[in-house]
Amino acid sequence: MLSKNYRSCALASVIAMTASVAFAMGGSPAEDSDATAARIQPVARLQMAPLPTDKGTATPRTGEQLYKAICFACHAPGAAIPTSPKIGDKAAWAPRIGVGLDVLTKTAISGKNAMPPKGGAMDASETEIARAIVYMTNKSGANFHEPAAGAKIASGDRTPEQIAQSACLKCHETGEQGAPKLSDKAAWSQRTSKGLDAVTKTVIRGHGNMPARGGLADLTDAELKSVIAYLLKRVGSGG
Ligand code: HEC
Ligand code: HEC
Repeated sequence: MLSKNYRSCALASVIAMTASVAFAMGGSPAEDSDATAARIQPVARLQMAPLPTDKGTATPRTGEQLYKAICFACHAPGAAIPTSPKIGDKAAWAPRIGVGLDVLTKTAISGKNAMPPKGGAMDASETEIARAIVYMTNKSGANFHEPAAGAKIASGDRTPEQIAQSACLKCHETGEQGAPKLSDKAAWSQRTSKGLDAVTKTVIRGHGNMPARGGLADLTDAELKSVIAYLLKRVGSGG
């Protein structure tokens, strides 16, 4: 999961820790950090306490511990950085939660705009990052399960409604790109007369302006089926 540069960065911070050196956000020692540093506002200078690494030697931090050590600097309600979704802000988190824990974890690990890779916790393992996300998002409307240590993160923890909101409604509520609207019963009854399984297969492949899996490549077949069932129920109830 970690790129070479992140490894060397993690290593460098382990070395730096002996001297208990402050680790400046956006000023990480990895060579590839220039582009990242340029994007990151120096909003937070975090004094990092020595942290266990992901090599399995130390006890992994809980989501709450990592949040309180690192993430809170930008994700606490009063944090100075304007663009970060704050803990408890359901509106800010809802579309993000919809993509699932797996994708959120990948985004948090690689960083996004003013969010530095791993939130700056370069030595945190994938599981630790995922747990910190579970801690934050479950206080903000999500219902994710904590991944077990070392376990592959399941993406099956998002509800059909969350998936539909983040991935499907942008076309199917508005009719964008010629998508059948939820309010258009006739358009749907034609398409779904062949049954849920057949429709699911069509959506997996995608066709016309309908992207494969509705554009969410990591959706499992079962998730997709449940989302389609959810959409079809809303067609019946008038959208
Ligand atoms: C230096 C500030 C900063 C720190 C520290 C930080 N974040 Fe963020 N985070 C951000 C910002 C800003 C965004 C919004 C990025 C955007 O959408 O442009 C964000 C977004 C996110 C998102 C949503 C990503 C998405 O897909 O929109 C997750 C998940 C996240 N952070 C997790 C974490 C975790 C876990 C930690 C602690 C390990 C952490 N962050 C620490 C600034 C920070
Ligand atoms: C970029 C816009 C777009 C997005 C996003 C999108 N759809 Fe579609 N969808 C379409 C269009 C356009 C059609 C009609 C395709 C045609 O008949 O040519 C369609 C058709 C369908 C159909 C009818 C069966 C079929 O293939 O004709 C289902 C079911 C469906 N979409 C489900 C979903 C689900 C579930 C999601 C979210 C996971 C989703 N769509 C996301 C545009 C979109």
